[in-house]
Amino acid sequence: MQIKVLGSGAGGGLPQWNCAGRNSAGVREGVAGLRARTQSSLAVSANGKDWVLLNATPDLRQQINETPELHPDPKGPVRNSPIKAVVLTNGDVDHVAGLLNLREGQPFTIYGSERVLGVLAENSIFNVLNPEIVDRVPMKLGEAFAVEGPNGPVGLEVEGFAVPGKVALYLEDESAGEDFGTQEGDTIGLKVTDTSSGDHFFYVPGCAQVDDALKERLKGAPLVFFDGTLFTNDEMLRQGMLQKTGERMGHMNMSGPTGTLAAFEDLDVARKVFIHINNSNPVLREDSEERAAVTKAGWDVAFDGMKLEL
Ligand code: MLT
Ligand code: MN
Repeated sequence: MQIKVLGSGAGGGLPQWNCAGRNSAGVREGVAGLRARTQSSLAVSANGKDWVLLNATPDLRQQINETPELHPDPKGPVRNSPIKAVVLTNGDVDHVAGLLNLREGQPFTIYGSERVLGVLAENSIFNVLNPEIVDRVPMKLGEAFAVEGPNGPVGLEVEGFAVPGKVALYLEDESAGEDFGTQEGDTIGLKVTDTSSGDHFFYVPGCAQVDDALKERLKGAPLVFFDGTLFTNDEMLRQGMLQKTGERMGHMNMSGPTGTLAAFEDLDVARKVFIHINNSNPVLREDSEERAAVTKAGWDVAFDGMKLEL
């Protein structure tokens, strides 16, 4: 199974269009050891021919152009694409807006929880994806299924499972109490398995807490991509970017007793990769002490174009 990181940044990417913060400005200035990042998404293939996208970001057009595996076959029909399916983990803008980039009459399948497909159904702009050729298939949480493109199974199985999180920002209901109307299925993690070899990995780009159920699921995993939005809960406030903590945004931070480094300490995960990294996060700088701390704890920091094979 081949895995390509199409994008490793959180919403806004790096540099973010309206941000003059240290990292966004640093990328524009060409600071060494600080890479530009598009918004978080993976492409996965079991056979090197058919590819499945995990989320579709507003940067998808650029990501496809920069990824030869996702280009149309020049020997095929004039309109063709190796992208056979998209699996969604939530309804956030950075994870669904890229569906609009796939609107040129090409058949593929969209998988999402009932909640997330409900969001697409309520937003008529997504009707540019003609339902006659772009199937929308609800995922039953906790049940693995074979991913199918327009020509049948692609050799991958996916299981979606609920993780602690928050409803998409633009759907928050202030009147619904402190969880803003969040329901099961608003944020899910994915287990992706190569059907023939049984190799598998987990993709959890948004997560508010590693609870016991999630620990149990991830224990001993060969590979986990995990929410790396922030290093500290209040870093966006401290940098004057946004009056919100990670906790308020539904994202864990890396450091401290309730952070990801601590939560994964005893999970025995063979390869741990942070993804969905916000432009405020100091680990983006390869020479930072925060980067040294996550490296010491056994984590990789994903970058655009990173390739992994299982
Ligand atoms: C998030 O990850 O919290 C969202 O991408 C935020 C947003 O929609 O801007
Ligand atoms: Mn996001």
